[in-house]
Amino acid sequence: MRTLVHIHDLSFAPFISETTIQTRVKELAAQLDAEYAGKNPIFLAVLNGAFMFAADLFKQLTCQPELSFVKVSSYVGTQSSGRVDELIGLQTALKDRHVVIIEDILDTGVTMDKIGTLLQSEQPASLAVCALLLKPASYKGKQQPQYIGFEIDDRFVVGYGLDYKELGRELPAVYQLIN
Ligand code: IMP
Ligand code: MG
Repeated sequence: MRTLVHIHDLSFAPFISETTIQTRVKELAAQLDAEYAGKNPIFLAVLNGAFMFAADLFKQLTCQPELSFVKVSSYVGTQSSGRVDELIGLQTALKDRHVVIIEDILDTGVTMDKIGTLLQSEQPASLAVCALLLKPASYKGKQQPQYIGFEIDDRFVVGYGLDYKELGRELPAVYQLIN
């Protein structure tokens, strides 16, 4: 794992290693398989941040999952703008389907609440959230997410899909902002 990573004007230090992430991804996949086997689940990965997590998770799943990608945008730099755009990219009917949203990180929960509301109107049989990271201190979402990789302090992180001003997504591990 690289020691320090410099992105734009900021520096980041190692936080969650690739090995630790992969071990946890396998555990989450086992939990999801136990719940969704035989239910023809459809997973909706939220672009761009969840692409890497979704890919690794999918390599472990045996519950015959379908996959679709959706996109929203609510973030500018390191602070939430509080603004959330529409959900785009959904082409499959979700009525009576078991739906699992795959997210990179839940911070304030604003994005997830918006996605949840939009998806509930499609009348799925069930709707669950699987996120790699959760910041419990910031999270004010209406529902508690069911599948969480790691709970972290309220700090800004990059890597494994997560970006700082569009850079850092390619890193195979998670790095935290240092001052
Ligand atoms: P929320 O609406 O405040 O929960 O923000 C969710 C979105 O903000 C995530 O899907 C990320 O794209 C972005 N985000 C939140 N925290 C971080 C972070 O620490 N690093 C990078 N992106 C983040
Ligand atoms: Mg995101």
